[in-house]
Amino acid sequence: MRIIRCKDYDDMSRKTANIISAQVILKPNAKLGLATGTTPIGAYEQLIKWYEKGDVDFSEVSTYNLDEYYGLSGDHPQSYRYFMDHTFFDHINIDKGHTHVPDGSNPNIDEACAAYDELMAKAGQMDLQLLGIGRNGHVGFNEPGESFSKGTHCVELAESTIVANSRLFDSIDDVPRKAYSMGVQNIMSAKTILVAASGEDKAQAVYDMIYGPVSPHCTASILQLHGDCFVVADEDALSLC
Ligand code: F6R
Repeated sequence: MRIIRCKDYDDMSRKTANIISAQVILKPNAKLGLATGTTPIGAYEQLIKWYEKGDVDFSEVSTYNLDEYYGLSGDHPQSYRYFMDHTFFDHINIDKGHTHVPDGSNPNIDEACAAYDELMAKAGQMDLQLLGIGRNGHVGFNEPGESFSKGTHCVELAESTIVANSRLFDSIDDVPRKAYSMGVQNIMSAKTILVAASGEDKAQAVYDMIYGPVSPHCTASILQLHGDCFVVADEDALSLC
């Protein structure tokens, strides 16, 4: 794992955006695995600025998001499809038909998961997979557990994740208890993986990811086994490393 140390959130966001934009410049029809959450917002904002300046063109890019809340359709303001549209896709020249998020509105778990896996299998390998990391070491919504997951599946969210994500909902009771998520095998099959992390509350998870034993108790630790994975993190997130 390569570690790219950043001063603070803004520095981390610019460096993350730089890597994504370099990928798109080098391969205009790049396939990007994308994440939601607070961490990548600054990088998306930076990419929008560079797009507006004419420095990066997303017209041939296709994207595959990691996860979506079970039970929320794409027009729900707390859905990850809504987040991606409003935070990023609506502000760049990407073809919306080339952007993909698991279908949270499909209650048929087997069908929804198989459909997303099929879509990704058809697309082939992601060129770059962007990840955030949960305070408990989750990537995507692959919560700590007894084994690593394979393909897209429906996850029972950990209590700590529900609490962490409740900041974006009116009340904690509104946070969905389940989500569709790419599996660890989906994530690990990307050519390159970039984990972005910021803030002291991520320090333990970042330490465990980089130096801990490879174990499903810290899902992100599996990334130690990936041949081309780098961590772009600020001083606070790296404070235990
Ligand atoms: C989001 C995702 C999650 C987040 C993680 C960190 O699509 O898959 O794994 O990356 O929960 O969230 P933030 O960035 O909000 O701290």
